[in-house]
Amino acid sequence: MTDEKRIPRHIAIILDGNGRWAKSRNLPRLMGHRAGLRKLEDMVRLVKREGIRYFSVYAFSTENWNRPIMEVTGLMSLFGYYLRRKVDEIKAEGARIRFCGRKDRIPDELLRQMKWAEDYTKDEKILDFIICLNYGGRAEIIDAVNSLIASKPQLPVTEEDLRKHFYLPDVPDPDLIVRTSGELRLSNFWLWESAYSEYYFTDIHWPDFGEEELHKALDSYAGRDRRYGGLKK
Ligand code: FPP
Repeated sequence: MTDEKRIPRHIAIILDGNGRWAKSRNLPRLMGHRAGLRKLEDMVRLVKREGIRYFSVYAFSTENWNRPIMEVTGLMSLFGYYLRRKVDEIKAEGARIRFCGRKDRIPDELLRQMKWAEDYTKDEKILDFIICLNYGGRAEIIDAVNSLIASKPQLPVTEEDLRKHFYLPDVPDPDLIVRTSGELRLSNFWLWESAYSEYYFTDIHWPDFGEEELHKALDSYAGRDRRYGGLKK
């Protein structure tokens, strides 16, 4: 059982391993992404059931544009499909969809669907489901610095001044960051916000990450002693 007092308020997941999952089954990579999307739909319900308030996922990074055009186009249509077909289910769960990342390079039609999904679910208050799409931690910091400078702030600026210019300034920093599929790195996800995050790594590929794996991650988190640079209480 997971200790209720130690549930993360914000869990973030780096959805890795769709390609390897597909390869191990002799399937095209896009089938791996489709399987990953199905798993994500389950996960929204599972994290909500755990009482988690913010759930963010790294769905497409600023570097993922460097993948073959077929894969990029396939992923963009998968995001569009999700928004056309699944938003009602998300809303019925009491979840609000929010996107986090740069808006350039995203196809116009998808941008319109993203805006619609955000507006349509904006009053839901049980879970914020944050999709990081065309997101990069360095890009976010640079965009925030430029926006801060343009606002002609009083000097010296503080951390809080800068934070106000992040993509989603009201979202608390991730308490727990999970990465699937065996890689032990952050890959430009939540760079600033992860300063005091706890990490959980698993070899399981994202399409195989289920309820049992989620509980392992949450149990591991519940046992951690977070000191934020201070001393053990
Ligand atoms: C990384 O696995 C995964 C991605 C770049 C895409 C993740 C996207 C989804 C699961 C679909 C999500 C949909 C919505 C609507 C948010 P990889 O391709 O790098 O796998 P590999 O490292 O094994 O090749």
